[in-house]
Amino acid sequence: ADTLGSAAAGTGRYFGTAVAAGHLGESDYVNTLDREFSAVTPENEMKWDATEPTRGTFTFGAADQIVSHAQSKGMKIRGHTLVWHSQLPSWVSGLGAADLRTAMDNHITQVMKHYKGKIYAWDVVNEAFQDGSSGARRSSPFQDKLGDGFIEEAFRTARAADPDAKLCYNDYNTDGVNAKSNAVYAMVKDFKARGVPIDCVGFQSHFNSASPVPSDYRANLQRFADLGVDVQITELDIEGSGTAQATNYSNVVKACLAVTRCTGITVWGVTDKYSWRSSGTPLLFDSAYAKKPAYDAVLAALGGT
Ligand code: G3I
Repeated sequence: ADTLGSAAAGTGRYFGTAVAAGHLGESDYVNTLDREFSAVTPENEMKWDATEPTRGTFTFGAADQIVSHAQSKGMKIRGHTLVWHSQLPSWVSGLGAADLRTAMDNHITQVMKHYKGKIYAWDVVNEAFQDGSSGARRSSPFQDKLGDGFIEEAFRTARAADPDAKLCYNDYNTDGVNAKSNAVYAMVKDFKARGVPIDCVGFQSHFNSASPVPSDYRANLQRFADLGVDVQITELDIEGSGTAQATNYSNVVKACLAVTRCTGITVWGVTDKYSWRSSGTPLLFDSAYAKKPAYDAVLAALGGT
C-alpha cells in the first residue's frame, strides 16, 4: 500500500482528514485528499453556527458539498459536531432552560436526520469538560442551564435520530491519563453501566511542545476501549518539523494500532497551508502539498511503503 488510506485499510482502519468546503475547488487540495485519505471530517461546516444560524432555519449547503464529495469517493464521514459551546450562535446562548433543551434536541434531530445513513460517527458532544485538575464540567449554556444531564440527553436524542451512526464523545487534553480524561472515563463508564447510548470516544490529539504526545497514550486509549467503546484519534496535528515531528506521528499511529478498538485516525487538515495553527507546520503535507518526513513515518507505521 502506498497511500495513507490504503495502508490503514490493511490494518482494518480508516485514515481521515478534516476538510474545508472552501478548498474543494483547488486541484492540489482535492487530488491530495482523494489520493491519500479514506475518511473526512468537515472542519467547520457541520457546526451549529453553520447549520442553524437562525432558530429553525437549517443551512446544509457547505456540509452537503463535503458529504457528496466524500460519498462519491467512498470515504467515511465523521460528523462534527452537534453540541459544543464554541461556534454556537448567540440565539442559542440567549435561551432559557426549557427552550434550550427543546432547541438542543431539535438541532440534533434535524441535523442527524438530514445526514441519516451517511455518517460513520458523530461527535455528539464536544469539549464538555474543563482543563486542569478539577475534572469538572466546563461552563457553557448547556451545562449552566441544563446541568450534567445535558450530555445524556444529547446522546439519547442522537440515537433516536440515526440509530446506525456511531455516537462519540470528543475532547482534547484527554489523550493521556490525567484528571480531565479520568472525568471523561467516569462518565463513559457510568453511561455504559446505565445503558446510555455511547459507542465511541474521540481523542483530538492536538500536540505541541507544551502538550506533547503523552507516554501513556496507548494505555489511555486502551482503558477506554476496555469500557466497551471504540476509540478514534479525531483531530491529530503535531507542531514541529523533521525527524522529531515524524517520530511523534509514528508513535501516535503505533498507539492506535496497538489498540484493537482504535478504529481510525483523522488528521486536522490536508496541508500546512490551511492549518488552524496558522503559525505552524503541524500536518503531513507541506504548504506546497509535498510529503513531509512525518508523512513517510505515518505510512511506514501503518505498514505501507
Ligand atoms: O466563516 C468565517 C468567515 O465568514 C469570516 O470572514 C472569517 C474571518 O475571520 O472567519 C470565518 O470563520 C472562521 C472559521 O474557522 C472558518 O474558517 C472562524 O473565524 C474561525 O474561528 C474558525 O476556526 C475554527 C475553530 O475550530 C473555531 O473554534 C478552525 O477552522 C477549526 O479548525 C477549529 O477546529 C476545532 C475543532 O472544531 C474542535 N477541536 C479544536 C479544533 C481546533 O481549534
